[in-house]
Amino acid sequence: MSHIPEFPELLRLAETKLTQRLGGSTRVQFIRGYDEEIQTIIHAIDKKKFREELRYTLLEIEQRMMKPGFLCLLVYLDDEPIAFEYGYDVSEGVYFSDSQAALIEGKGVGTTQFALEILYLYKKGYKQITLSTEELDDQGRTLRSFWERMGFSVTNRDAGGNVDMMMELSPETAYYQYERYIKPR
Ligand SMILES: CC(C)(COP(=O)(O)OP(=O)(O)OC[C@H]1O[C@@H](n2cnc3c(N)ncnc32)[C@H](O)[C@@H]1OP(=O)(O)O)[C@@H](O)C(=O)NCCC(=O)NCCS
Repeated sequence: MSHIPEFPELLRLAETKLTQRLGGSTRVQFIRGYDEEIQTIIHAIDKKKFREELRYTLLEIEQRMMKPGFLCLLVYLDDEPIAFEYGYDVSEGVYFSDSQAALIEGKGVGTTQFALEILYLYKKGYKQITLSTEELDDQGRTLRSFWERMGFSVTNRDAGGNVDMMMELSPETAYYQYERYIKPR
């Protein structure tokens, strides 16, 4: 099996990639558990990126931050938060990715951030990542295909246009994330 570097090296590679892509100093912060400042940052980005009925209130964000296994990755560009991705445990070894948003789109922030999180969870021993998404986003883009390209597959669809998806974490799926989204070209 091809080698995946240790996590500190993966973090360094991801930050270097985004620093080059975004043209400014980029860092990724990992947050575990409730933190009031992070709650406010998530809320501010959420407000900019989601239409009203999809937005979480401060209380709803706090409730999620209190859940077992809560993990948030925040991306900063020149010390300004520009993207979040967070989730928590739903059962033993299974992580639910609840929400993700990037203020700068189409430059690799969302995929790099998510790949880093997937590799972090894989190295921690998680077996599966799940998520639930709308089939189409506000601009009519197929969100499902965004996650399919990352390696998720559909497990359920409801009549309202929501799709449940999952990824098994294995040496192969982890290596795919590293190769495709983190490894320097
Ligand atoms: C979804 C989201 C986080 C992706 O972040 P991003 O930084 O733009 O992602 P990347 O730049 O890494 O995108 C990689 C690819 O996915 C495509 N893509 C981005 N957003 C997409 C979307 N909503 N649907 C389908 N494809 C999308 C990009 O065009 C790009 O394609 P390319 O590599 O062929 O050019 C971002 O678009 C966003 O914040 N959307 C609004 C909030 C949202 O819908 N979140 C998801 C539901 S929780």
